[in-house]
Amino acid sequence: METLVVDHPLVAHKLTALRDVNTDSPTFRRLADELVTLLAYEATRHVRVTEWSVETPVAPARGVRLAHPYPLVVPILRAGLGMLEGMTRLLPTAEVGFLGMIRDESTLEAETYATRLPDDLSGRQVYVVDPMLATGGTLAAAIKFLFDRGADDVTALCLLAAPEGIAHLDDAFAGTGKPIRLVTAALDERLNENGYIVPGLGDAGDRLYGVV
Ligand code: URA
Repeated sequence: METLVVDHPLVAHKLTALRDVNTDSPTFRRLADELVTLLAYEATRHVRVTEWSVETPVAPARGVRLAHPYPLVVPILRAGLGMLEGMTRLLPTAEVGFLGMIRDESTLEAETYATRLPDDLSGRQVYVVDPMLATGGTLAAAIKFLFDRGADDVTALCLLAAPEGIAHLDDAFAGTGKPIRLVTAALDERLNENGYIVPGLGDAGDRLYGVV
């Protein structure tokens, strides 16, 4: 898997504020949204475009526009919703599919509880968004789901990643021959005994939406 840790002072600044236990939920949402837009800029470096010409007030100009079929953005519910707007701001014509996955806190295994995605994803570029790549179980299950529907190009955007999660994805998809990219704001130290990223930022879903 190709992993990009975006090294930029604005990313580091916003991430530090996100980590802060004293950052309240409205500020956390705003920062997550801003951070995603910065990550999305890097994550869309390979987005497919076709040649397109326009007339400027002065002369014809050759350029490009996003190719059909448009990219698909897939937030993993619930915490991935906090990353959706940051993505669609940069990719306004993207379609959005939803994947509801929950981690069983005793086994740390991912279970799918909701899906709203096109049946056929062949030829689609898919951007799957989930703030925390911890054990990697949820993201691996999500990516497998997308591959099973025909996707051949998946980029995952996570605010934070743990080495264990990256290793899990590398193992899960070694030899599939399908390109997978991961774009993240930081690679943290490790997971603790409860599966939380250290130092991390806590439970991203709770910090975005409250403990419900
Ligand atoms: N999910 C979270 O929200 N936080 C973690 O640290 C790990 C998984």
